[in-house]
Amino acid sequence: MSGHAPFVGRSLAVIEDMNHQERLYLYQQARRLKEAMAAGDQSGLDRFRINDPDFGFYEVFLEDSTRTRESFKNAAHFHRMKFSEFNAESSSFNKSESYLDTFSNLVGYGNRIFVVRSRLEGVCRHLEERLQEYRRRHSLPWPVSFINAGDGRHEHPTQELLDEFTFLEDLNWSHEKIHLALVGDLYHGRTVHSKVRGLGLFQEVQVDLVAPRELSMPAHYVEEMRNQGFQVREYGSIAEYLSSGSGVGGVAPQWYFTRPQLERMGDRILRRQGELRAAITFDPADRGKVPPGTRFYHPLPRHREYPTIPVALDDTELNGWERQSANGWIVRIVLLAMLGGRIGQDYQGPLGSVPVEEEQCITELPLDGSGPKRYSEGIRPIRDGLVLDHVCAGDSAPAIREHLATLIRVMELHGPGGEWVSTGEKSGTKGLLFRPGHPVPDEMMIRKLAAVVPGATVNVIRHGEVQRKIRLGFPLRIAELPELVCRNEACITHPANGEQIIPRFRRTGTDQYSCAYCSRTHSFQDIWK
Ligand code: NCD
Repeated sequence: MSGHAPFVGRSLAVIEDMNHQERLYLYQQARRLKEAMAAGDQSGLDRFRINDPDFGFYEVFLEDSTRTRESFKNAAHFHRMKFSEFNAESSSFNKSESYLDTFSNLVGYGNRIFVVRSRLEGVCRHLEERLQEYRRRHSLPWPVSFINAGDGRHEHPTQELLDEFTFLEDLNWSHEKIHLALVGDLYHGRTVHSKVRGLGLFQEVQVDLVAPRELSMPAHYVEEMRNQGFQVREYGSIAEYLSSGSGVGGVAPQWYFTRPQLERMGDRILRRQGELRAAITFDPADRGKVPPGTRFYHPLPRHREYPTIPVALDDTELNGWERQSANGWIVRIVLLAMLGGRIGQDYQGPLGSVPVEEEQCITELPLDGSGPKRYSEGIRPIRDGLVLDHVCAGDSAPAIREHLATLIRVMELHGPGGEWVSTGEKSGTKGLLFRPGHPVPDEMMIRKLAAVVPGATVNVIRHGEVQRKIRLGFPLRIAELPELVCRNEACITHPANGEQIIPRFRRTGTDQYSCAYCSRTHSFQDIWK
């Protein structure tokens, strides 16, 4: 395999790990492969084949699967590579072994591509990061890739690849515009969650969300779609969509159905399953109400008794789901060919996800402004020490009090001195923390403070005067602090899962932070233990 192989050793934990150009390259290759298959063109097929019996490919499925597991298995057979399946039920997972230890062994046996499906979210991101250390420790020459085959409710990036490929196939390969209805369980469905970022491939996106409230798309995903410029409309049922959805833009010509994921639901919702199913099941009598040429898709499986797309529609031109499922095999062959370095040498575009620009979040404020030059605690002015002002400005008094307690614990700012909530008419509600006698903070401490109390000001007081005044902005990343915690119990970093991982966060809104492993959105107060 020649020098320039840009996809070797890359992982796919979320759809954004492959940028738009990389995905369009993959689809162009998949089109060529599909044509070669249709024509029975052997040399056309061999162009993709890794054809190496020592090339190790491992499937690790810790949740059930038919299509994803079997299409990857069939893709591995196409490639004539070493194929292995991990037997989770009889493995040392049952002896509380960690993901890291389990996969380190499998990497040590010469395996290069892993496909992982798990109930826990963020597993592939964790493995991608930590297994590189194992490789270095043992000077292993082979690169390793991890492919997320569905992690809890989080993402299913290879399903997104085959979905996008199928949408493009039906849009005459144009990625200018898509109008897609997402119907069904948008709350639990990881395949629709991957669409939030995935559909950004199209230049203009209109999405109609059709789901009863209990199954609706989590608010932070809807917000993320709108932030990307998608036009988003929401409906509680197919009936409502068809009767009122013919406003601007009309009813979508492409519909993506999902099943209600009963296995992830609590008793309260389960009791209402009949009513919920009715809201998201297409009635064949409504066929005349969708635009001519409409296609339905479904990641499958369909429920054998209560399919959201009734079997009566199988033999109609609405049926896009069967071809979609078959495309899964094609797209996954191409993905393996790219990660295995068999193709990709001719790719000219940018590589990987778009890096986030660092931004200054610590601002020195001039001292000759209108703010106080002195701070007093009681009647005595502070001579030397530290005052944090504007902590959680605008929040409720109990929320500020709670966050002041977090601040003291995380930054180890235990006494002497006081802290309280001020409700001044001019400045509004805010927290204040006085620490007379505290030594001058170093830059490291100021950066850490920006992570814990963004928006606050730090006043360094020497000889009774404010010597330095610093405004803390909201950092783009918050990482490497052992007190960080992701609130999502299904996240691999959650303490209850025992994997001993410290989460990292990325700013996604003014004061919103998303976990780098499971993408769960938090307020900045919520990311601390
Ligand atoms: C889906 C999954 O597992 O996320 N199926 C698939 O991979 N094609 C959807 C589902 O289980 O409903």
